[in-house]
Amino acid sequence: MKIAVVFDTLHPDWEDADYKKEIEAKVEEAEYDVARALFAKGHDVLMVGVAEQLAPVLERLGAFQPKLVFNGCESFRGNARHEYALATVLEMHGYRYTGSSPTGLLVARNKSLTKKILTHHGIRVPAFAEFRPEEKPVRPSELRFPLIVKPLLEDASVGISQASVVEDDEDLEARVKFIHEKFHQAAIVEELIEGRELYVGLIGNATLQVLPIVELTFGEANGEHRIATYKAKWDEEYRKRKKIKNVFAKGLSDEVAAKIADTCTTAFHALWLQDYGRVDLRLTHDDEVYVLEVNPNPFLAYENEMADAAEKAGLGYNEFIQRIVDEAMARDTA
Ligand SMILES: Nc1ncnc2c1ncn2[C@@H]1O[C@H](COP(=O)(O)OP(=O)(O)O)[C@@H](O)[C@H]1O
Ligand SMILES: [Mg+2]
Repeated sequence: MKIAVVFDTLHPDWEDADYKKEIEAKVEEAEYDVARALFAKGHDVLMVGVAEQLAPVLERLGAFQPKLVFNGCESFRGNARHEYALATVLEMHGYRYTGSSPTGLLVARNKSLTKKILTHHGIRVPAFAEFRPEEKPVRPSELRFPLIVKPLLEDASVGISQASVVEDDEDLEARVKFIHEKFHQAAIVEELIEGRELYVGLIGNATLQVLPIVELTFGEANGEHRIATYKAKWDEEYRKRKKIKNVFAKGLSDEVAAKIADTCTTAFHALWLQDYGRVDLRLTHDDEVYVLEVNPNPFLAYENEMADAAEKAGLGYNEFIQRIVDEAMARDTA
């Protein structure tokens, strides 16, 4: 099948042949991993990097006429808020593409809107308030410390560090101000939910396969908050030093596992996700499930979290990527 892999690039002049050299040289990038899997499955693959301009992207797609676009775009011109717009452009030009629709991408990026929708569907989320840049953050009295302050529209733990957790109004105001000034967007302030941190990958549409649950475990906390800060997620050296690890969650009773699967399935559909996604949640000591956020089009790199969970479920990497293709081709929304 003709499949175009469309993704963000730092090389505006590169063409398909340039990327294919990198793929052969075994360079590790999520889009190259995906392309290698598609080759292995016998597909005719065109690599299309999106840089500063959309016109060359549309030209290349127009000339190739793919049956499917594998959407690996995470941002446009360095701005992740445009992620949904790339899906919109594909949709407007009549291409079938993998992953979530513009609605899913737009809504799930907004941590406040997401929580409002999940609440409507009976899913437990942390109590929260949103503060716009021009507002003085006055904490609603029902919002109890400790609180965590995050940028409203980022992901990958951007803007999240140990200092994100605040214990009093003074620190709250300072951290909200920091978010406004640094990220030029609203801040969301949530009650800090103590508990196990779990990540649940899902594949499918009308029926969803729930992948084995991954847990982020923290070593000795040494007074630090057990949260997935930017460093805890991405800094390998720091992770080693602090004994922060992704493992498969152990010791969940069938009942709790079923409750988690049910919550995540509801969240996936409630937020208009398609084909594949990941739900981040917290499980409290008394087995309450709180959804922290829902991620459409999660990171697909080889040996990363979602791929490892798929592998554990018996889907090797090539089969996992092919499954996403199959799901995108089978659904009746193009
Ligand atoms: N309300 C909360 N209670 C406890 N931990 C939280 C809360 N919100 C965020 N965190 C911690 O911060 C991490 C990143 O927050 P999240 O909302 O998932 O943002 P991102 O989109 O950047 O991944 C979470 O994985 C979790 O460890
Ligand atoms: Mg998250």
